[in-house]
Amino acid sequence: MTSPNPALVRDVEDRRTFAIISHPDAGKTTLTEKLLLFGGAIQMAGAVKGRKANRHATSDWMEVEKQRGISVTSSVMQFKYKDHVINLLDTPGHEDFSEDTYRVLTAVDAAVMVIDAAKGVEAQTIKLLEVCRMRNTPIITFINKLDREVQDPLDVLGEIENVLKLQCVPITWPIGMGKTFRGVFNLMKDRLVRFTAGQERLTKDVEEIQGLDNPELDRLFPMEMPYVRESIELVQGATEPFDIEQFLAGKQSPVFFGSGVNNFGVQDVLNALVDWAPSPKPRDAGSRMVEPTESPFTGFVFKIQANMDPRHRDRIAFFRVCSGRYTPSMKVYHTREGRDMKIANALTFMAQDRVLMSDAVAGDIIGIYNHGQLHIGDTLTEGEKIGFTGIPNFAPELFRSARSKDPFKAKQLQKGLQELGEEGAIQVFTGEFGNIMLGAVGQLQFEIVAQRLATEYKVDAIYESTEVSTARWLSFPDEQTKKDFMREQEARLATDVNGNICYLATSIYNLETTQKHWPDVVFHTTREMSQRFE
Ligand code: G4P
Repeated sequence: MTSPNPALVRDVEDRRTFAIISHPDAGKTTLTEKLLLFGGAIQMAGAVKGRKANRHATSDWMEVEKQRGISVTSSVMQFKYKDHVINLLDTPGHEDFSEDTYRVLTAVDAAVMVIDAAKGVEAQTIKLLEVCRMRNTPIITFINKLDREVQDPLDVLGEIENVLKLQCVPITWPIGMGKTFRGVFNLMKDRLVRFTAGQERLTKDVEEIQGLDNPELDRLFPMEMPYVRESIELVQGATEPFDIEQFLAGKQSPVFFGSGVNNFGVQDVLNALVDWAPSPKPRDAGSRMVEPTESPFTGFVFKIQANMDPRHRDRIAFFRVCSGRYTPSMKVYHTREGRDMKIANALTFMAQDRVLMSDAVAGDIIGIYNHGQLHIGDTLTEGEKIGFTGIPNFAPELFRSARSKDPFKAKQLQKGLQELGEEGAIQVFTGEFGNIMLGAVGQLQFEIVAQRLATEYKVDAIYESTEVSTARWLSFPDEQTKKDFMREQEARLATDVNGNICYLATSIYNLETTQKHWPDVVFHTTREMSQRFE
């Protein structure tokens, strides 16, 4: 292999690509906005604050999202901070969109976990962390809302360690909370950064006091300092020192305390990202690992979103660059379809604005206009036949049959569902007689799909309950077994949007019985998004 191009190496090293994970309401949107503010990407925060007055966060896009106040889509934002290019991928917080979140997490190199200090570890935090753990994603922890009466920080840390089984290393430590929140003490730098309540500001003019033993601290905070020193001593005695290797292996998390809504502690998180989070890493492409600094361009689609902007009725494929450099209008090789295509006018995203991308390297996310040729999980290269792995589809747990209220709109329903299925918004299975079955991981997915069918495809869908209770993708040892199985099980079979054959079982008992009768047929609970079963 030729030695890497120094400019490419430098650009890749400057990249930090991460997502924020949290339970709804912990403060993810607020932190996103404040990070953008510090990154100079937006001029004014406060959109979040005013959300109840019908304004919405800068990163929210879709109508349903605005109406429901939850983040259904995942947005991507790029900004610069300290000579680094930061790519921030937003994830839906609601558990019904966990599949979507999983796919976004395959495209990042690190995650920031936001915890509400009053509520501690919540259900969705646990799930999201499990996903991060599958890939050993390094995690930075931000414990939020210290301007409120919250739990004792020692208890919050204890909970993270016990429930999430993640070793915590506090880098900052709060002094007081709620009305007496005084600031955070940086244990590495041995200095206090003071908090001024209610004052939204960038920390250019922060007041700092050096040294935990500084008598100035006792003069200012006589009530709090004895307990603070005691807690710090306790926590330092009980935790390991910060070890960057352990962090990069996803085993240890540096912890910061703060208040997102007050801009407090936000810069600590950004600094940790720049100083400690990894630049893009090699990626598994099936037959080999792809180095981010290799010159040939490669990457994969991890998300497809339709109609992001009602003014441009189109679909965008979100593509993570894994190596090489994107140049406008470049010709690439579509490995699943085995043909060349041109990426015309790739986009980068800045909140609601889309900007034409002129240059992208590993870690960057580009948006590619898509008319159905790209599916989630697709790999693009400069000719090499490889396929990036690790972007699965999970077997759905909830099922509904779907038909159009107006029988003359059956075609429209089919088109809409095919597109929404390719987008990964819901799983769509078509039976032998054209009957359509929808599969979801969460109930809300059905509602969102019905809304989108109505607004984007002008078709009212009727859902009905069905006897299906679980689905499995199938693969066969040989053509004869496939034929025999399909003949016998015809009534239980359907195909997904990629043409894979699925077995729709009425119960686990039904599934197990069939599996026993057909020991050579493999029933898969997950499949790689771009995978075709034979
Ligand atoms: P999410 O994306 O994780 O769902 O959370 P989001 O940022 O929307 O924040 C949830 C609520 O928590 C919001 O209040 C937000 O203002 C508040 N919040 C975020 N960070 C802090 C913080 O550091 N301190 C305090 N006290 N509150 C914080 P809301 O009542 O839902 O909306 P709003 O009326 O404040 O806009």
